[in-house]
Amino acid sequence: MDDLREKYVSLIAAAADETTLEDLRVQAVGKKGEISLQMRSLGKMSAEERQLAGPKLNALKDEINSALAAKKTALGDAALDERLRGEWLDVTLPARQRAMGSIHPISQVTEEVTAILADLGFSVAEGPQIESDWYNFDALNIPGHHPARAEMDTFYTHRAEGDERPPHVLRTHTSPVQIRHMEAHGAPCRIICPGRVYRADYDQTHTPMFNQVEGLAIDKDISMANLKWTLEEFFTAFFGTNVKTRFRASHFPFTEPSAEVDIQCQWKDGSVVVGEGDDWLEVLGSGMVHPKVLQAGGIDPAEWQGFAFGMGIDRMAMLKYGIPDLRAFFDSDLRWLRHYGFASLDQPNLAAGL
Ligand code: PHE
Repeated sequence: MDDLREKYVSLIAAAADETTLEDLRVQAVGKKGEISLQMRSLGKMSAEERQLAGPKLNALKDEINSALAAKKTALGDAALDERLRGEWLDVTLPARQRAMGSIHPISQVTEEVTAILADLGFSVAEGPQIESDWYNFDALNIPGHHPARAEMDTFYTHRAEGDERPPHVLRTHTSPVQIRHMEAHGAPCRIICPGRVYRADYDQTHTPMFNQVEGLAIDKDISMANLKWTLEEFFTAFFGTNVKTRFRASHFPFTEPSAEVDIQCQWKDGSVVVGEGDDWLEVLGSGMVHPKVLQAGGIDPAEWQGFAFGMGIDRMAMLKYGIPDLRAFFDSDLRWLRHYGFASLDQPNLAAGL
């Protein structure tokens, strides 16, 4: 028995893993294990011999079993320690840097303009950038021979040879959305339409693609006074300061009367400051919607009237954020975008001030 004890105690102590340990258990105390066989031989002994050997064998069996159990726990603990050491993670490490984009000033200003006018009850309407001749011109009271067509430097699409229909155009302004909206929704209405427009023109203040926002309000008793209030309210919110406006009589085929609107500004060291001084800067065209335009949109001019305006978004962005050259807006120069771009979480919000 002492030999058996010594043998298994040292084998168990040396076992390196749970499989070896399990093999040892079977060898020692399994059904046909050495100790079990010894216990079976108790039956052949005399009563005195059995009284002596029985308790000793039982004690040996208990000792081996507890040595096995203790070793099993030790092996399990060691394995866990090993895993914890291997799978250790420093969750306090700073995250890897990721390149972050920025919001383009045009997108930001579009959001700002939308937020202010939405607060005044205008909802956003949209229309296609490739427009039919009818929506871009005729429906807006610009017939084929009208000089405004020539002045607009329009981009025309190609028609297949032999197709005599007038070509589609890249919309030269956002005004066609007025017609589309009137057709689809009738009166009364209050909408704005921000979007891209196109004219064949290129210098420091003109690019072949630029952005406008159209405004249209139609009801039974809308007047120029509502237009003026709306625009002054808008400029004050947009520039965050009281801005005087100047309405100059003008002419657009689609409004009557028409006015170009200037805002008060001052030139300081080669850049403009809005809301002070006694210079004026033209920022938009506007007027009372022409009866023919209402008719083209399916609205009875004897019953309804309204105002419309069209404003350059790019121009507004240049003024508010001191951006000197319009062309840079569309160059996609990363250095420019990082400098003038906005953080994606910097969302325009009336409550916080724009
Ligand atoms: N559509 C005109 C333009 O692009 C602007 C405008 C819109 C004027 C609405 C009057 C009314 O110049």
